[in-house]
Amino acid sequence: MGMSVTISAATGQDAEQIFRLQYLCFQSEAALYGNYRIDPLVQTLDSVREEVAADCVFVARLGQEVVGSVRGRATEDGAASIGKLCVHPRLQGHGIGARLLRAAESSLVEERGAKRFRLHTGHRSESNLRLYRRVGYETVGTAEGTDGVPMIVLEKPAETYATTA
Ligand SMILES: CC(C)(COP(=O)(O)OP(=O)(O)OC[C@H]1O[C@@H](n2cnc3c(N)ncnc32)[C@H](O)[C@@H]1OP(=O)(O)O)[C@@H](O)C(=O)NCCC(=O)NCCS
Repeated sequence: MGMSVTISAATGQDAEQIFRLQYLCFQSEAALYGNYRIDPLVQTLDSVREEVAADCVFVARLGQEVVGSVRGRATEDGAASIGKLCVHPRLQGHGIGARLLRAAESSLVEERGAKRFRLHTGHRSESNLRLYRRVGYETVGTAEGTDGVPMIVLEKPAETYATTA
């Protein structure tokens, strides 16, 4: 369809666009759970800025516009956590989400020495679960979000990254 979306590391200047994009993208999740207090909707701009400075944050860009984002963070136990994956509603279903996920995984391995990746999604978010399972994640448990939404926790070992990239 002639669109050229590029994936790159986010800079401080992207924080505001990421903040607005996630607010837009997670409306569908909020509606699915009837809960508008989910983390991505209540996160402050300052908190997004802090994540961009400290974590492995990637953006998808179409021209000057940020149309997708993902965050990755190393944790104590070596299972890096990946979160807040989002793609602008008008550009979903073209593989941008999967590309962002790969970019986060790759940098978590190369820059943070990740051995495993962990992510979570709401228990009723079927298309998210399909995307994660397709790229090798398996359910390892359940958790309750700070907002009370039941979540499914998925993981995959980092060594599968090399073969699925
Ligand atoms: C989850 C989300 C980031 C996925 O982004 P995306 O860019 O649409 O993801 P992809 O395009 O890689 O995959 C989505 C679907 O498009 C399909 N697809 C991917 N590339 C395609 C292509 N070139 N042509 C046709 N379909 C394609 C995939 O097979 C997948 O189909 P499925 O839903 O039936 O499994 C996006 O839907 C979103 O922002 N959702 C709201 C926020 C959210 O819930 N985030 C996840 C929190 S855990």
